[in-house]
Amino acid sequence: MKFGYFDDVNREYVITNARTPWPWINYLGNEDFFSLVSNTAGGYSFFKDAKFRRITRYRYNNVPMDAGGRYFYIKEGDVIWNPGWKPTKTPLDKYECRHGMSYTRITGEKNGLEAELLMFVPLKTHAEIERLTFRNKTESKKTFKVFSFLEWCLWNASTDMENFQRNFSTGEVEIDGSVIYHKTEYKERRNHYAFYGVNSPISGYDTDRETFLGLYNGFEEPEAVLEGSSRLSHAHGWSPIASHSLDVTLEPGEEKSFVFTLGYVELNDDEKWESKGVINKAPAKAILSRFDTSEKVDRAFNELKAYWDDLLSIYSVKTDDDKLDRMVNIWNQYQCMVTFNMSRSASFFESGIGRGMGFRDSNQDLVGFVHQIPGRARERIIDIASTQFPDGGCYHQYQPLTKRGNNDIGGGFNDDPMWLIFGTVAYLKETGDFSILDEMVPFDNEKGTEVTLFEHLKVSFNHVIENLGPHGLPLIGRADWNDCLNLNCFSHDPNESFQTTENNTVGSKAESLMIAGLFSVCGKSYVALCEYLGKDDEARRASEFISKMDESVIKYGWDGEWYLRAYDFYGKKVGSKENEEGKIFIESQGWCAMAEIGKSEGMVEKSLDSTKKLLECEHGIVLNQPAFTSYVVEYGEISTYPAGYKENAGIFCHNNPWIIIAEALAGRGNDAWSHYAKICPSYTEEHSDLHKVEPYVYSQMIAGRDAAKPGEAKNSWLTGTAAWNWYAVSQFILGVRPYYDGLVIDPCIPSSCKGFKVTRRFRSGVYTIEVKNPDGAEKGVKTITLDGVVISGNKVPVLSGEHSVVVSM
Ligand code: BGC
Repeated sequence: MKFGYFDDVNREYVITNARTPWPWINYLGNEDFFSLVSNTAGGYSFFKDAKFRRITRYRYNNVPMDAGGRYFYIKEGDVIWNPGWKPTKTPLDKYECRHGMSYTRITGEKNGLEAELLMFVPLKTHAEIERLTFRNKTESKKTFKVFSFLEWCLWNASTDMENFQRNFSTGEVEIDGSVIYHKTEYKERRNHYAFYGVNSPISGYDTDRETFLGLYNGFEEPEAVLEGSSRLSHAHGWSPIASHSLDVTLEPGEEKSFVFTLGYVELNDDEKWESKGVINKAPAKAILSRFDTSEKVDRAFNELKAYWDDLLSIYSVKTDDDKLDRMVNIWNQYQCMVTFNMSRSASFFESGIGRGMGFRDSNQDLVGFVHQIPGRARERIIDIASTQFPDGGCYHQYQPLTKRGNNDIGGGFNDDPMWLIFGTVAYLKETGDFSILDEMVPFDNEKGTEVTLFEHLKVSFNHVIENLGPHGLPLIGRADWNDCLNLNCFSHDPNESFQTTENNTVGSKAESLMIAGLFSVCGKSYVALCEYLGKDDEARRASEFISKMDESVIKYGWDGEWYLRAYDFYGKKVGSKENEEGKIFIESQGWCAMAEIGKSEGMVEKSLDSTKKLLECEHGIVLNQPAFTSYVVEYGEISTYPAGYKENAGIFCHNNPWIIIAEALAGRGNDAWSHYAKICPSYTEEHSDLHKVEPYVYSQMIAGRDAAKPGEAKNSWLTGTAAWNWYAVSQFILGVRPYYDGLVIDPCIPSSCKGFKVTRRFRSGVYTIEVKNPDGAEKGVKTITLDGVVISGNKVPVLSGEHSVVVSM
């Protein structure tokens, strides 16, 4: 069952049934001011940091789900309705929600009155614009009232939900004409306020929640709206809100728009006040005046569209499969950008409070957006590297506002250092900007500790070889990529965190085959980089360690039909036929196969075959088999999840592309493709009722075959899956791969595919790459012509201007 459809021309997903199986959301904003918006206009806004600068309030654990947002109540006679259906849930004659590239347009219609709500954050603007357009579609005049509504958060989203003995006394607002200002804590330590204004005179306002709603009412029946008039409340403490009321009259056929602006302002200490107790409103007024007519809003909206046109023109494909084209050209790239902006902080599954930016997460996200915004990728790499420790270890997370490592979690995740190499190499291959390697970057943000970024890569590499276990394999530390495989945790106390507790570390023999494969892959690209830079000694030194690692994997990491997953604290095998549960895991198959360890001995093919045989199911590849059915104290969190969910035999989508890439490297295009299409959202759209979350973005997890409801997905939007699947499809299936000195063309496709065309902007050139596959090959390029001339090899050089490349498979 579907709840809408893709509109590829407008790059929108159009939801036609408001009762989606879960709120289907979108993100507004591209730089500093961000909002989440659901298909019923729920959600919230924040500035830069979803924890410390929450602008509007949201209740994650609310019943019903997704209550609170930017709501417009329309009262015509006795009928009260919302364009987005919620919260009144008055049945609409028409409903449509179009989620597009950084904007959402919700249209509702009731009794011949159409209300269209366009929401977006204009470029370089600290505000969300909400343009509400009414159309009278009847033959008679219409008179009605409109009430806006949003609820302020007291800035810190965490204390906002906890510290009520203080919170109920701090709230402060100012009302000036049609603008409501939220200034809680402004008089002391905050230098920022928020405002909500409309470009028209108002007939009333409310700023105190209980006065507007009534203490015994929910959002669905505000007393002021039921009565038809604002109560002119002025909030002093309790829960400040912002609501305007407007009286509207429309002649038959007439259309009228109102522009609401939700903005955020920061001021220097000496500019904070207009007079004692009165905030300086000049910066807010400047923002409001930029959007005080519908034409100005149109202009800003067109700029946003042009911004996305440009971003999405860097890589595009034309095949005969719409589902593939829309993922590659639109939604996968869009999701990568959102993931870059949010890391894992704010979605309908991430509360915006718990997690800062992940070291490994952010580096992986980079391969998803580096082609779109290389400048910001550069900045991100430097920020991340600045949180590294001198021994190459890293803080697992950092807070975006301060950019400092997060002490509560600390470090000790021994895969983390490798990801810095992974991210930096991706940046270098895309941009050719080697100057980044000479940037002076501190350790742990300490002044005076700066070394070059290249040195950071070197200490990252060394961190693995300085932390090897008894089999010469990398010690796992707290965990590797799988945060839930906690081999040194040994926790019996439910109040302990699996990620930060290490009850058993002394003498630990816990080693990770996932890190071994990761080290081999990233190490080899580190070697190639060193060679490219003429650092031959370093290349040689590194190569020796990689060969040793590969040997250790072959000797101690092979279980006969697949790669082991790990050795536990005691040195016992994890992910072996000898185990009763958790005999095989996906991560080490993906990484060791991508590293091609033991390829000539047939290990890679065997590992991929075992993955297919033992881990693949109808909805994707599960993480491990058999699932754990009881708690294994020496494994930690992985065995806490019910079978089939999350890291316990769920389809953890993030790691499926590792297999896809390994399959592509092995030349098995049909297998790579079938793994890809199973988890790719546009291919699961038909069973949206089962899948539950948005059919236009990847989710972190789909319930595996052991689960109660296989195929049901969770944790949509903020997942490394976006970047990894983008990387897999763009660079390994379609096979257009940036390298330091050119574009490598190396497709690996299903044999049924007769060809495709990729347009790729790379450095200062634009390449139109036409791939022809008349004989149904899966891999292998016979000839490549560049502007009509046959070239040798499969790398097209870096060129300026437009070029045509024709590839015969
Ligand atoms: C985390 C990743 C982790 C993955 C697997 C995700 O939720 O963001 O850092 O690698 O889970 O445990």
